[in-house]
Amino acid sequence: MEHTDSEDAFLDRLHNFLYQSEVERFFAQHPNGLTSRDYVPPASWGTWWNWNPTDHGSSNPSRWELLWQYYSEPQKVDSDQRSLIPGELRSFIDSIRDLQLVRTCDFETRPPSTISVCPASADVRVEEAIHGMSPKKAHEVTRTVEYLKEVLGRLSASGLHVQHIVDVGAGQAYLSRALRDSLGLHVLALDWSDIQSDGAKRREKSKKKVSKGQGSKEPPQTGSLSYETLPINPRSLQEVVQNWVTTFKTSFQEVEKVPVLFVALHACGSLTLDILRTFLFALKDSSGRRGWRPAGALVVGCCYNLLDSEDQRSLTGRDIKFLENHLQMAAQAPLQWNRSSDVAKRIKLSFRKTAWRALLTGIIQERGATQDCEVVGKRLGRVNDAVYDSWPSFLHVASEKFGLDLARAERDQEAEGRIEIFQFFRCVLGPVVESFILLDRKLWLRNELVSTGQGVRLVNLFDQATGSARNVAIVVAPSSVTLC
Ligand SMILES: C[S@@+](CC[C@H](N)C(=O)[O-])C[C@H]1O[C@@H](n2cnc3c(N)ncnc32)[C@H](O)[C@@H]1O
Repeated sequence: MEHTDSEDAFLDRLHNFLYQSEVERFFAQHPNGLTSRDYVPPASWGTWWNWNPTDHGSSNPSRWELLWQYYSEPQKVDSDQRSLIPGELRSFIDSIRDLQLVRTCDFETRPPSTISVCPASADVRVEEAIHGMSPKKAHEVTRTVEYLKEVLGRLSASGLHVQHIVDVGAGQAYLSRALRDSLGLHVLALDWSDIQSDGAKRREKSKKKVSKGQGSKEPPQTGSLSYETLPINPRSLQEVVQNWVTTFKTSFQEVEKVPVLFVALHACGSLTLDILRTFLFALKDSSGRRGWRPAGALVVGCCYNLLDSEDQRSLTGRDIKFLENHLQMAAQAPLQWNRSSDVAKRIKLSFRKTAWRALLTGIIQERGATQDCEVVGKRLGRVNDAVYDSWPSFLHVASEKFGLDLARAERDQEAEGRIEIFQFFRCVLGPVVESFILLDRKLWLRNELVSTGQGVRLVNLFDQATGSARNVAIVVAPSSVTLC
């Protein structure tokens, strides 16, 4: 597909950037470690570690917020504010901003090329709540159904009629039901969790009740929905699809293989890769044993932190082994932090939590250095958000949890600001990591699909402003069909 050369080069840039020691250190270090008495920051962090503009009054945004404003909307940061940020820091933030795939809904996911700013989406299309679904889920299901309708229509026009869909990791099967009801498809919904599968069945019943109660007629059912509860791996997935398609035998001639399309919304960790591996295996297997053939796939991944350890590396052979922190931070979407006042408040609170917990770690370590203190190294655990309303209330709860008198412990605002900046950098580096993961998957597939007649594309299926941060679908379909 089009951007191939530039995509390879962009993936190399991402790789080189992430694996310079200055950047790698952000992932190798936990914020709590920064308050340790012996901690020595790398020399290259000096610009921000020692940065504390004196004329930066208390009515102004805090240091990390100023950096975030510059990162997300540099054109809106006035010259006075801008001049507070050292040039070296601005250049570093500019590089980070430019090293992420463009994620605007309705476009192909692509390197930024000429675009220097990735604005948060302005027009949020939140679908009306569909029975039982949150607006976010309704948006995801609606967009996926719309998109698949288009793709299936194009496949049909090219002579490939796909009516069988396997929804892998279906959860409560919202998408499965929508595909059956809106597009009249035969759907196999798979999940390993009884709770999810039982929930899916309950929702099916309650949906019928609501339709009856509202006097609406059941739509004529041309499609069907089957549930299976099982752990999915490449082997079990092939088997369960094989068993399922045999139940449709009568409607197919013996020799005809049923074209099957795989879908997965938010397939956690290695599940995404297992679906794609199954697809590739079935595509290339010429044994003829199978009663079905893979016609396409649409997979939106999530929870990179749940990747099996052998999948925490580059699929295209680039020299990378992700640390746990890389995979955790890949879930961040800092361009969306101001999408609502609630989200902005939540983010501010999370920065305060990170910083105060790190300060507390340092305070307890100090105690341990001068007196016997059994709680050194122990964690505070979960506490109510209201505890973070004030430093004294935080110390009060910490004192109770640890059985220490911490009431007079100092709130070191200098250190607090540093921890927040450190956390800011970890968060904004997250989309760079995710860009690497997504593009790496695409280029791996592109290579695997050579001579198979299939192609791959990354599509920004959802609007991140609706809260769907993992918005990119990996779409595999016959190369003869132009994908939108
Ligand atoms: C994030 S949820 C998404 C659910 C649904 N697709 C949606 O978008 O609402 C992921 C689902 O995948 C299921 N899952 C994860 N790994 C699985 C595996 N290896 N085998 C079967 N199900 C799995 C989980 O139980 C969960 O229901």
